[in-house]
Amino acid sequence: MEFFETVNRRRTVREWADKQVTDEQIRAMIDAGLKAPTHDHLRNWEFVVIHTDEERTTALEYVKEWAARHSPSEVQTSASLMRKMYNYAVPRQYRMLQEAPYIIIPFFKAGGGMFQPTSVSSLNPVASIWCAVENMLLAATAQGLACAIRIPVGEEGGYVANALGAPKNYFMPCYIGVGYAAEGAQIPEQHEYTAE
Ligand SMILES: Cc1cc2nc3c(=O)[nH]c(=O)nc-3n(C[C@H](O)[C@H](O)[C@H](O)COP(=O)(O)O)c2cc1C
Repeated sequence: MEFFETVNRRRTVREWADKQVTDEQIRAMIDAGLKAPTHDHLRNWEFVVIHTDEERTTALEYVKEWAARHSPSEVQTSASLMRKMYNYAVPRQYRMLQEAPYIIIPFFKAGGGMFQPTSVSSLNPVASIWCAVENMLLAATAQGLACAIRIPVGEEGGYVANALGAPKNYFMPCYIGVGYAAEGAQIPEQHEYTAE
């Protein structure tokens, strides 16, 4: 797929077709992630790939419970498109991951300074891993796939890192559900912005 077509086609998807994704497609996404720019030249990143039911149960235990306790009405926003997006997305936070053929959970290494930032540069480890995440989303789109993202809230990231056996000082920026978009999957409307 041509680059600008890929960029224009990438959209967050939360409903999946009954169609398998291959290990090679997941590897291609991770390879693209590893090509992203990085603040420290080290790419201290790890990628946990979740595919089996057992792995899913371990990785999604927290979000399953979170989803049972939260509703879209708790999200404070007066912007109508944002409200529509939350109304659609919040009830799907568990299902969009549970039903995705694959889930990739990236991890990045960071020191304690990230949690007590003294300047924007304290957040470089987060910025770098998000460059990797965007490359992965685009690599998925280029292969005809789509992704759902969830950011861990509160103690969720630490809980999942622990459940997956992540070493100390490794943090997850998000979960990435990967699959083929279901026919008729809802794509929340967005404001259109252009350089003009
Ligand atoms: C930093 C970041 C955090 C996000 N967190 C979530 C999330 O927790 N749950 C979710 O369903 N989508 C999440 N998303 C996806 C956004 O809702 C989505 O990107 C946005 O609505 C724009 O839609 P698009 O990706 O289709 O262009 C997140 C995206 C980003 C970049």
